[in-house]
Amino acid sequence: MSVEKDATADEDSASGRDAPDPSATPKMRVENVTKQFGRIIAVDDVNLAIRPREIFALVGDNGAGKSTLMNVLSGVHAPTQGQLHIDGEAVTFSNPSEARSYGIETVYQDLALMNDLDVATNIFMGQFPTIGIGPIEFIDWDETAERSENIMMNTLGRDVDIKTEVEFLSGGQRQLVAIGRALAFDPEVIILDEPTSALSVDATRLVQDTIRRLSEDGITIVIVSHDIESVLDLADRIGVLYRGALVDVLEPHETELEQLNELMTTGTLEAGLKSDD
Ligand SMILES: Nc1ncnc2c1ncn2[C@@H]1O[C@H](COP(=O)(O)OP(=O)(O)OP(=O)(O)O)[C@@H](O)[C@H]1O
Ligand SMILES: [Mg+2]
Repeated sequence: MSVEKDATADEDSASGRDAPDPSATPKMRVENVTKQFGRIIAVDDVNLAIRPREIFALVGDNGAGKSTLMNVLSGVHAPTQGQLHIDGEAVTFSNPSEARSYGIETVYQDLALMNDLDVATNIFMGQFPTIGIGPIEFIDWDETAERSENIMMNTLGRDVDIKTEVEFLSGGQRQLVAIGRALAFDPEVIILDEPTSALSVDATRLVQDTIRRLSEDGITIVIVSHDIESVLDLADRIGVLYRGALVDVLEPHETELEQLNELMTTGTLEAGLKSDD
């Protein structure tokens, strides 16, 4: 997708990138989506439009419905009511591979890496490039190595040795390998569950830089996070879930930590929003 540079791009945009275009057809649209588990309404009539190449963060207290909404976006749960749209097209996902066919990849919180296998194998696990000799298909290890190297070095911009077993990597590097595995599917959207929750300050910065870089490359990012400080730094917009309802969508420059905390814990703001203009 080509993106027009906007001379009046939002200077406050946390990363210094131009702000994503609010008038573009949303990359993903959630229309009146409700997800019930028996009598529990985990997601309650949510409407949300995520812009192309936006970094959109979903925050909320425990049990607010973040994971459930994320799972609806990634095809794990079908909504009880409502409709998803991708690039303006109404879509229904019965499972994550159907979401994948629309370019949506998810990096789950547990990362699901195979510790005793190397980086390259982790990136291509389950979808290795193959070469056929007669009727027989073999894994093409040279191609696997080349493509993993390319993802880690060029796309993520990180010097991680693809022959290293994942168990020897730092927390931040492991997160990058999990993102690398998503990139192997050439996605348009990456959904990340708590990408910085278990990380040190330095590793958080590493992962944040990587997420910004992916967004600059045109990938739309949805982050589910408890780490509001990190989210205020990184996100273009922040959606606040409270008891399943999306109670607000804010830009980082119009809010601050205490207000987000208040919204997350009470669903409303006593004093109104910070005014900086
Ligand atoms: N598979 C399920 N079956 C029944 N109830 C569920 C299921 N998944 C989630 N819930 C309920 O839906 C509500 C929202 O849960 P969800 O996991 O989406 O919240 P969350 O915002 O991700 O919380 P946390 O911050 O603790 O991860 C909770 O009341 C939870 O108990
Ligand atoms: Mg959760």
